[in-house]
This record gives sequence, structure tokens and C-alpha cells, in this order.
Amino acid sequence: MTVKLKPLFNFDNLPTPELIGNGLTGKDILSVEQFDQDKLKYVFARAHEMRELVERVGHCDLLAGKVASCLFYEPSTRTSASFIAAMERLGGSVIPITQGVQFSSVSKGETLADTIRTLEQYSDVIVLRHPEIGSAQVAADYSRVPVINAGDGAGEHPTQALLDLFTIREELGRIDGLKIAMVGDLRYGRTVHSLTRLLTQYDVSLRFVSPEILRLPLTIMNHVIDAGLDVRETHDVADVIKNADVLYVTRVQKERFTDLAQYEEVKDHYVITPEIMTQAKEKMIVMHPLPRVGEIHYTVDHDPRAAYFRQVKNGMYIRMALLAAVLGRA
Ligand code: NCD
Repeated sequence: MTVKLKPLFNFDNLPTPELIGNGLTGKDILSVEQFDQDKLKYVFARAHEMRELVERVGHCDLLAGKVASCLFYEPSTRTSASFIAAMERLGGSVIPITQGVQFSSVSKGETLADTIRTLEQYSDVIVLRHPEIGSAQVAADYSRVPVINAGDGAGEHPTQALLDLFTIREELGRIDGLKIAMVGDLRYGRTVHSLTRLLTQYDVSLRFVSPEILRLPLTIMNHVIDAGLDVRETHDVADVIKNADVLYVTRVQKERFTDLAQYEEVKDHYVITPEIMTQAKEKMIVMHPLPRVGEIHYTVDHDPRAAYFRQVKNGMYIRMALLAAVLGRA
């Protein structure tokens, strides 16, 4: 009599890494253009699970044995800390070259390409922030491990846009139908660039509030117009505050100005105060990628509509979800 043994594993039924990460496994994350509705839903669903995980047990070993290099050529608090926290809560580890680029070989004149080709020898993923537009793409061209763009100059900041969108959905329960006003440095603010591009996938009204010299770049404005969205520009917060569902406030990006006198002229253009907040809807939310340098008055923090620190926390869940997807673990 022959006994047919049940196989211990049915390898045919194991999900492939592609299915685990819904197309993100092994991929670079350079721009929000990579995210269609299906991928957004996937990342948001995973981020929800990450929240549950953190709230219930704090950590797990999903990324045990995985190493991320965090290479930051520009200052960062939230983005670098949240990537590190995300990696550690998932049981992975980090090579942090964040606050100390000046102590690394970069200060000896090493090129980005060589630094990337070195870090890829040690790590499974590289998180990069760099002052030049397109630098994340350059790094990805040299790297055999996935590169995650944590801000390339005034270009993009895709992981911030994902956490921003996630925050809007968490706070207001939907994206479609909302009136979203972006305030401040729309010219150099990469978070605005990425979030705006992402929002063209939804049925939203966009209001852009900035001084003349800090208007949204034309390429992005054309993108919004091509998508057929209801869009208006103004210099005045008073024009948008009554109807806005989301007030997305940004810092004037001093480091991008070549003429500091020009920066001085516009730096204090907008300050959100409790008085301004009295004109806003009861369910409106105020967001900010942070750091703030005066554009939201500290007394606004007590207003339940101030969502910026909840937004910070969502950043960790989104980055946990992205790292797990990119590294093919779910
Ligand atoms: C933003 C950035 O670096 O682009 N910060 C962040 O990542 N949370 C916004 C800013 O620096 O003003």
C-alpha cells in the first residue's frame, strides 16, 4: 500500500514577492506618479495594520535581518526619525547617516554614486534625502537595492504625500468632494508638489494661496488643469478659509532662496491664528508637514482641528507599510 503524504508546503500556493508588495517589492519609490488607486489602497490598508500592530504590541519581526541605510544630505527630524522608527518597530535595523553627513566620506568629496554603491553593499534598501532635484533617480540608477526618495530638493517628497493623503482620509473619512487649500511656499515646497500630483487622481477642489513669487510651478498647475480639477489661486487666506475642508500650511523654504532679501520679504506672509480659525468650518483640519517657523501660531495647537501632530504619527505607519512592501514582507 502506498501512503500519499501531504506535502508540508505547497509551493505553488505561496504568494510571490510581487503579490506580497502589490507591485512595490524590489521597486524604488521616487515619485507619487508610481501610485495608482490600487497601490494607494494597498499602502493605506497596510498602514492601518501597522497602526494596529504598534498600538497592540509595539513591534514585530517582519523585517528581521533587513537593513536600511538612511542617507540624509539635508536636515531632517520627522522623515529620518520615522523611517528609523518604522524599521525598528518591524524588527529591522538602520545605518543612520542622517545628522552626520559632514562626518562621512561625503565631506571628503565622495560622489553620490560612490556613496550609494557603497551603502548598497550593506543594506537592503536606501532612504535618501538630497538637495538636488532628480538626485533620487540618479541614486536609483546606481543602486541595485531599492531607493526611497525622502525629498530631492524642491522636487518631490512621495512618502510625505502618501502620509498626507492617508491623514486626510483618516481625519475626514474621504478624499473625493473635499476643498483643499494649500498655503505658503508652493514654489519650492516639495511636499505640496507631491501631494498636489497625487490629488489629481481624486475629485477635489484645489485652492493655492501664496505670495506672487511663491506660486505653484506651472508644470504642476498644468497637471492639475489637465486633470480637470476645480482650481483657483489667490494671495489671501481669507478667500479660502470659510469653505476649506483642509488647510495645508507650509514653511517658506529659506534654503532654496538665492536672494535672502527676497526670503525676508515673504517669510511672514501668512500666520494662522485662533482668530482666523474662527472663520473655518467646524470639521476643517489644519495640516503642516513641519517644521513650522511661525506660520501656525502655537495657540492653534489646542484646537482639535490642528491635525499636524497626528499627521506626524501617520508618517511612521505609512513608512512601515512602504518598507514592508518594498522589502517583500507582509
Ligand atoms: C518637509 C520637507 O523636508 O520637505 N518636511 C518634512 O519632510 N516633514 C517640509 C519642510 O521642510 O518645510
